[in-house]
Amino acid sequence: LPEVADARIVPDVWEALQDHIAVCAACGLHAGRSQTVFGTGAADSPEWLLVGEAPGEHDDRMGLPFQGRPGALLEAMLSSIGVQKSTVFFTNLVKCRPLGNRTPRSEEIDACLPYLRRQITLLKPRRILALGKLAAQALLATDSDFEALRGHVHHIDSEDGLAIPLVVTYHPAALLLRPQHKADAWQDLNLARAVVAEHAAL
Ligand code: URA
Repeated sequence: LPEVADARIVPDVWEALQDHIAVCAACGLHAGRSQTVFGTGAADSPEWLLVGEAPGEHDDRMGLPFQGRPGALLEAMLSSIGVQKSTVFFTNLVKCRPLGNRTPRSEEIDACLPYLRRQITLLKPRRILALGKLAAQALLATDSDFEALRGHVHHIDSEDGLAIPLVVTYHPAALLLRPQHKADAWQDLNLARAVVAEHAAL
């Protein structure tokens, strides 16, 4: 049998984590991917960590997150509030594309969440922007309604105890379908931008 990665043993070095995820078979999504999508961007205390839901078709092909239309909208929104792409790390709640872009299942999210947690611990981002309900609920370990989670600054603890500010906003694919929510999303981005992370000086 080929050796498969065990999601319960998660490397604590960035490059090893990347290698581990690249061969992960901890859930059924591995069978349908062309490659994993680890994430990309500023990897040392980035100003922003953006967490989407799952890679789409282009992302799966390129091995990079947010390559399609939702990503273009996201970049336009970030740039409209003065956020440089070079200050952002982009990743997703699950690292493999669900076939047909279906919503990831709870067991797939559970299998992949330790990777995102470890990424957060190693990255030490100044703030996290959770894009959409699934990323928000998983990171905050809650089943609260999406609308109840928006509009506040939450905090999550990294595995080594840093309190990291987290703001919830609409997923950019949802904004493409319902542009009337864009004004609210801009408010969320501005709320996140105004946050001062306590570990900023570390
Ligand atoms: N592409 C991604 O990488 N993530 C999403 O959530 C949507 C598109």
